[in-house]
Amino acid sequence: MRLDRWLVEAGVGPRRTVADLVRDGRVVVDGSAVFDPGCPVSATAAVTVDGRPWVWVDGHTWLVHKAEGYVTSTDSHDGIPIIQLLPARLRHLAWKTVGRLDKDVTGLVVLTTDGELAHRLTHPRWEVGKTYIATLARPATVADVAAFAYGLTFRGSGEELRPAELSWGDDPTTVTLVLHEGRYHQVKRMFRARENDVLTLRRVAHGPVRLPDDLPVGGARPATAAELAALRAVVRLDDPAAP
Ligand code: URA
Repeated sequence: MRLDRWLVEAGVGPRRTVADLVRDGRVVVDGSAVFDPGCPVSATAAVTVDGRPWVWVDGHTWLVHKAEGYVTSTDSHDGIPIIQLLPARLRHLAWKTVGRLDKDVTGLVVLTTDGELAHRLTHPRWEVGKTYIATLARPATVADVAAFAYGLTFRGSGEELRPAELSWGDDPTTVTLVLHEGRYHQVKRMFRARENDVLTLRRVAHGPVRLPDDLPVGGARPATAAELAALRAVVRLDDPAAP
């Protein structure tokens, strides 16, 4: 592939920036300075920029701990785009947000440049579980557990929800809810339908990947190889027989 593409995909920066770095002689490929951004390089080439080694990766997947005030939609008028929580050198890549969170909701958001991974993780066919912790205005009840397990129907829109698992520990105003789909304001609307209100909401897991304990609010880090493998496995991305 072209050197400039290699550098962009490795996350060095946008195409114009990397082209300037190459022309300025700051990029060394397999031990030699290279001045042509279009020169061919192999995916496994040893590349340094200002002496710092980079590796080319086939797609980026990051875990972000969304803070309040950030928006997962691409419309930035309503808040700060979640992409801003990624390092500046990566923001120009073609990121896909895996499942939306409301502006006031915190927790795990997976961002990936792998369109097929994002598509499958959000497609209802794969029923990938999303785990939320909600604090409620009133205690949850066993009737709520049964209603969610059966599958609510929203009055008004008539939307029929898939079964969802509601549980709690000692305090029934702090509950865990696992959904297998992602509808607009779903958790808040589910509790509203049960005459309760969500006070705070946090997503703590997306499928097999949990919000890392050591990832601060507003922090972001690349998914580990194990996390990425788990995400790919849950939607059978490496299984040619998958539907
Ligand atoms: N349910 C909601 O109500 N809001 C979210 O952001 C996610 C799930």
